[in-house]
Amino acid sequence: LDRELILAIESSCDETSVAVIEDGKHILSNIIATQINSHKRFGGVVPEVASRHHVEAITICAQDALDEAQVTYEDLTAVAVTMGPGLVGALLIGISAAKAISFAHNLPLIPVNHMAGHIYAANLVADLQYPLLALLVSGGHTEIVYMKAAGVFEIIGDTRDDAVGEAYDKIGRVLGVPYPAGKTIDTMAHQGQDTFNFPRAMLQEENLDFSFSGLKSAFINTVHHADQKHETLNKNDLAASFQASVTDILVGKIIRALKAYPVKQLVVAGGVAANQGLREQLQLALQAEQLTDVTLIFPPLRLCGDNGAMIGAAAHVQWVKQQPLAGLDLNADPSLSF
Ligand code: KG4
Ligand code: ZN
Repeated sequence: LDRELILAIESSCDETSVAVIEDGKHILSNIIATQINSHKRFGGVVPEVASRHHVEAITICAQDALDEAQVTYEDLTAVAVTMGPGLVGALLIGISAAKAISFAHNLPLIPVNHMAGHIYAANLVADLQYPLLALLVSGGHTEIVYMKAAGVFEIIGDTRDDAVGEAYDKIGRVLGVPYPAGKTIDTMAHQGQDTFNFPRAMLQEENLDFSFSGLKSAFINTVHHADQKHETLNKNDLAASFQASVTDILVGKIIRALKAYPVKQLVVAGGVAANQGLREQLQLALQAEQLTDVTLIFPPLRLCGDNGAMIGAAAHVQWVKQQPLAGLDLNADPSLSF
């Protein structure tokens, strides 16, 4: 009976998700209602549409999460919710639901940073050891994070412009690939070759920062020039060339980071962590650089995208460390950083 049960809510973008996590480790349920089909025809997430879907889905997801975990509100230890970063309207739906549950069932309310959630997804499949490095790659973020201890985040590298997932989605439009394009482009890349040799911005610079807008422009220009000349380019080769640039940049910078910050674990998190090319190239690079004492941790694919379980995993760390709880005045913070 003394098990710790956290109900965790995620609604920062286009998935409504509620999970029940036991003792920070066991996923008793992780219900994910995706809205992708509603946003596809717009080529990206429409914030107002997202909010409306969250309203419709949130109570159903919460009840499903409890049912699947075979628990009731009375069994819970706390309720956790993503407070940012994300779309303000979308975040507010999850926050309102969490507050209502907290108030009605007299439960502590744990506010969670979405990006911390992505990192702590790894805690559900491995035992994180500090210090560690995390490569956070999603639709909104491209960051290298140094964690000297649990709950302590330092951004040591960041993108100067587009996030890597955003770049995938933008070139996806040019290729006629539906949103979100990352997974399809990853598959296409495996059927093509790097024949275009797109730029690898900032790779040689002695810092840990990224830039993807030049790569995106080079890609778009290449396709437009071909269109004007009525040439057809091989889409798989385009995808492979784009992905080769992206992985070279990400891998190059993370190797640089590992040399500057010796750690035993490298966590790769966020939606783009699902990328097979990135997984393969990182593994090869660690061997080539003789960084074989670094353990590479990729959360399983179902925990790479946005989900409630990762929020529960992060909330557990905060709960154990007795970090500040939120009151019923909790507000969304759309640009929350670490
Ligand atoms: O973390 P996430 O689910 O949502 C955000 O917080 O942004 O990440 C979504 C992003 C999208 O841009 C999507 O295209 C990208 O992750 N993505 C991928 C892959 N699967 C999803 N990018 C590259 N390769 C993949 N296999
Ligand atoms: Zn995310």
